[in-house]
Amino acid sequence: MGLLEEIKCKAAVRKKTIVLCEGEDKRVIEAAAKITAEGIAKIVLIGNAEECKKVAPHVNLEGVTLIDPLTSEKTAVYANILYEARKAKGMTEEQAKEQAKDRTMFGALMLKAGDVDGYVSGACHSTANTLRPGLQVVKTAPGIKTVSSCFLMIAPEGENKYNPDGVAVFADCAINIEPDAQQLADIAVSSAKTAKAIAGIEPKVAMLSFSTKGSGNDDKFFKSVPKVQEAVALAKEMAPELALDGEFQFDAAVAPEVGQLKAPGSKVAGHANVFVFPNINAGNIGYKIAQRFGGYMAIGPVCQGFARPLNDLSRGCSVEDIVATVAVTALQAE
Ligand SMILES: CC(C)(COP(=O)(O)OP(=O)(O)OC[C@H]1O[C@@H](n2cnc3c(N)ncnc32)[C@H](O)[C@@H]1OP(=O)(O)O)[C@@H](O)C(=O)NCCC(=O)NCCS
Repeated sequence: MGLLEEIKCKAAVRKKTIVLCEGEDKRVIEAAAKITAEGIAKIVLIGNAEECKKVAPHVNLEGVTLIDPLTSEKTAVYANILYEARKAKGMTEEQAKEQAKDRTMFGALMLKAGDVDGYVSGACHSTANTLRPGLQVVKTAPGIKTVSSCFLMIAPEGENKYNPDGVAVFADCAINIEPDAQQLADIAVSSAKTAKAIAGIEPKVAMLSFSTKGSGNDDKFFKSVPKVQEAVALAKEMAPELALDGEFQFDAAVAPEVGQLKAPGSKVAGHANVFVFPNINAGNIGYKIAQRFGGYMAIGPVCQGFARPLNDLSRGCSVEDIVATVAVTALQAE
């Protein structure tokens, strides 16, 4: 069974409730019906019956809970939660009442209130508009200050000399543009958690750089090597039990012979399966190289570091992508 099928099966056992915020989108409506029919999760769809019928007349939404913020009695309760969360930032009660009617905000407030276990949106909204309600009201998990993202990279069929697990985690390729040392440490700790919970692997985290253990001495101007070195120290403090090391070049991280030569004594060098890139340029380019040249399949971006799971879809997503993202979200739920 492939990893995606495994994720769906594991999700089905957990029976979590996930909110899909975009009941105006045909793909989301179709996915809601499919997820319900296959028993992958219970679905709350934000929209209304008339609208769904118009957009996707062929879809049977039996078993899906439809909720419309414009008529729901919960909207007033959620407006209050929103006001309490944002009043220090200058939000008025009137503004909270208005914003709680927005579907993505309503979904985030359902999650914050504990009425659902996870949130998936973004089929017809930008990343910023999808994540902002979560950043504003759901906030980060205890001990983590940064929301980040990762891709699960599934190896092509056959022997994978440098990736015996057949799956790796790449982070952060989609959210934090130029993370500082503390943010990189947060990304590392969150990625290890995702690797365990979703990919089902024992994480060995490599903090990547163009330098291995101080080999890049001439980075006086950009200070990118000291940043990664500081991140290694911070992450070790945050999660002393974690197999994590760096800074490593990619070959020192995955090739045992190079790892031994360049970072003797490191338990991670040569065996890493979770890769934390120094910034989004490296991460985004890196995962696309693995995809296009290496034949890897990329699942994600999976958001991590939120207090409760919240994921963003690509606007080009398919029904299957939505189903997969809901299954991943269900596995992230406590
Ligand atoms: C994540 C992102 C969407 C947030 O954008 P934004 O809504 O403009 O963020 P803001 O700076 O207005 O911040 C909103 C709130 O979220 C918080 N926040 C922003 N990014 C955060 C992060 N990574 N982790 C935790 N909190 C964060 C801010 O502190 C702020 O909180 P506050 O209002 O309580 O003070 C933005 O970082 C982004 O656009 N990243 C790149 C996404 C992208 O283009 N990816 C490429 C696609 S592959």
